[in-house]
Amino acid sequence: MGSKYDLMITNAEVVTASDLFFADIAVRGGKIEALGHDLGEAERVIDAKGLLALPGGVDAHCHLDQPQEIGHMADDFESGSRSAACGGTTTIIPFAAQMRGQSLRAAVEDYHRRAGRKSCLDYAFHMIITDPTPKVLKDELPALIQEGYTSFKIYMTYDDLKLDDRQILDVLTVAHEHGALVMVHAENSDCISWLTDRLVADGKTAPKYHAVSRPQAVEREATHRAITFSELTDVPILIVHVSGAEAIEQIRWAHGRGMRIFAETCPQYLYLTADDLDQHGYEGAKCVCSPPPRDPQNQEAVWRALAHNVFSVFSSDHAPYSFDDAEGKKLGGHELHFHHIPNGIPGLETRLPLLFSGGVVGGRISIHQFVAMTSTQPAKLYGLYPRKGSIVVGADADIALWDPEVKVSIHNTMLHHNVDYTPYEGIAITGWPVMTFSRGQLVAKSFEYLGHSGHGQFMPCGKPVLSL
Ligand code: URP
Ligand code: ZN
Ligand code: ZN
Repeated sequence: MGSKYDLMITNAEVVTASDLFFADIAVRGGKIEALGHDLGEAERVIDAKGLLALPGGVDAHCHLDQPQEIGHMADDFESGSRSAACGGTTTIIPFAAQMRGQSLRAAVEDYHRRAGRKSCLDYAFHMIITDPTPKVLKDELPALIQEGYTSFKIYMTYDDLKLDDRQILDVLTVAHEHGALVMVHAENSDCISWLTDRLVADGKTAPKYHAVSRPQAVEREATHRAITFSELTDVPILIVHVSGAEAIEQIRWAHGRGMRIFAETCPQYLYLTADDLDQHGYEGAKCVCSPPPRDPQNQEAVWRALAHNVFSVFSSDHAPYSFDDAEGKKLGGHELHFHHIPNGIPGLETRLPLLFSGGVVGGRISIHQFVAMTSTQPAKLYGLYPRKGSIVVGADADIALWDPEVKVSIHNTMLHHNVDYTPYEGIAITGWPVMTFSRGQLVAKSFEYLGHSGHGQFMPCGKPVLSL
């Protein structure tokens, strides 16, 4: 037997996307070096009896310190990664967003500067493409894919971000040729602006009209259109933040035709409804995100689709704007009409516990589905597997130890983000990750942050693994 291990997690009930077994986990140099029994001595021993050892979460859709034309995100890489770690996540993939007129490479370089040495967790970047000029398509994008930026998001809505259909086809063609994965925000922009104009003309400007201006039909239509583009260009795509039954129908339809359309959903579509936008005063702004939360029937449809593996990825879509903030939901210090409210809600820290409680403890999904959708599959789809996404020999020792029975009532005061509210205030859940290890370092314990900025490393991504 060689020298001591750095860390030994003993008596763990280890759960992966496919297996469950009791083993000690031996860690050296930040990697899982052995799984088994009587593995030898370690500098530090953690007894995990009664706890579940799960691969740390991979949050493959979160926005941190993303440059905005107006407003300012409340979380940067420091507070965002801190919050993620305290919620059992060990890898974050936020977005390097191209501004129109900006080169894509400049956007990526700027985002590296923003990341600095702030993150306590390992991270990769998706790109957001808003200006697919010939230079971007022919030179920058292929080179960046080669360098490890192998996924990018495109928008079918938002005036400053959206691409038209032709541009989308061009971007998908580059993804096809160079082996990248395109994430699609699917909502029909013209329908939304037409509905918005009518609502505003009628004086209907409160936060609740955000949901009225973005009905399921606009998401359904855009989802179908994106699927058609995927068919025409013969490249798999991933539809992000799917909100309800009608978009799910389109995805199931594509699956029925044998197409590789991947899909993601988020906690807000399981725990919030449009009624949460209809609160006294301006409170509803706290739940303004796009697509908007729907109703209990649609929540049920999303749960059923999770159970049936329609979704490959479960992400937070953490888009952090503080409520009482002139850079946030009250941009410029005012209560805004619904179509000017910065879109997005926080959720990095609550993503995993909400799905664990409602899904695993609630008997709707298996613990293996939970691991698959929150860690293994995002790691595969975004080219980080097997370094991330499982508990196997040779992988990074990114591990969350869960107490599956602890009762927690979510309050913003216990969370570690920089946002002044959580949309999940007061929700009672069962199960919480009581210890989070990033490459063998304990970064969070019992709601306390123990990590440090700079521990997190940037990871270039490999090619997407598209057969899950
Ligand atoms: O409302 C949301 N989801 N804001 C974040 C940006 C996006 O579209 O994902
Ligand atoms: Zn989006
Ligand atoms: Zn997003």
